[in-house]
Amino acid sequence: MYADLEGKVVLITGGASGLGLAAARAFADERASIVIVDLQADKAKACAQELGEGHEGIGADIASEADVAGAVAAAMTKYGKIDVVINSAGIPDTFRPTVEQDVADFRRLIDIHLTGTYMVSKAAAVHMLAQGSGAIINLSSVAGVLGLAPRNAYSAAKAGISMMTRTMGCEWARSGVRVNAVAPGYMLTPFFQKLMDEGKLDGNKILRRTPAGRFGSARNIADAMLFLASRQAEFITGVTLPVDGGYMAWGSSDDACPESL
Ligand SMILES: NC(=O)c1ccc[n+]([C@@H]2O[C@H](COP(=O)([O-])OP(=O)(O)OC[C@H]3O[C@@H](n4cnc5c(N)ncnc54)[C@H](O)[C@@H]3O)[C@@H](O)[C@H]2O)c1
Repeated sequence: MYADLEGKVVLITGGASGLGLAAARAFADERASIVIVDLQADKAKACAQELGEGHEGIGADIASEADVAGAVAAAMTKYGKIDVVINSAGIPDTFRPTVEQDVADFRRLIDIHLTGTYMVSKAAAVHMLAQGSGAIINLSSVAGVLGLAPRNAYSAAKAGISMMTRTMGCEWARSGVRVNAVAPGYMLTPFFQKLMDEGKLDGNKILRRTPAGRFGSARNIADAMLFLASRQAEFITGVTLPVDGGYMAWGSSDDACPESL
């Protein structure tokens, strides 16, 4: 569908699960070479193997500068370039009230989401700027726009990621490197399923609050990423694209979709 993605090298953090894995499959279907970078080293390698020949799985903690440098260096050694970065690695917030929240938990979440996205983008951009082309796609969230208590660290990190998407997008706009983000609503992935299973999120309430009346699929996000990485999006940079079934557009006090249950 996107002929220009053939032969591109796509580095995906958090690519061993959920949205990152769906992106890996979608870009592999476009004949791109995929580098999965994930804390779960064995799963990263297994997922890369599952995609077929020519893909790579690397174990790394994106909150570690040394790990990030190692992963980017390994991708450069194997492929000689990085065309697309998808910053999808992430963990959920603790959902604890602010006054009970551990500062260590807050810091760890910021380290992974915000600093991790910064470090991976920075390390890859060195090569993208040298080659005069590249696309970086970050993961924001409805939580980065709306106040979803008690998710302090997660919401702050996602809002920060959206702003960093703008600043990096502006900084590199003349150098051929585009930076955009997607802001998923509630997508059925292990991440979201676990939060419902633990009673931290109420799936029925979310469905009623979502104009589309359904949860999103990981493929919905992958489709937006394919577009943002492609030539068709060549004049788009610095934006955060909601992919949320209308969740952020809805502002009434009524249920958006009461008949969804
Ligand atoms: N699923 C949703 O509904 C939803 C909604 C909005 C935003 N998001 C965001 O999308 C991204 C992906 O979410 P998902 O649903 O695919 O989650 P997921 O739990 O299915 O996958 C996350 C992956 O990130 C990896 N990871 C976690 N910490 C890491 C670290 N320090 N270094 C390297 N890898 C690490 C995990 O091992 C896992 O493979 C996250 O940033 C999340 O905040 C998800």
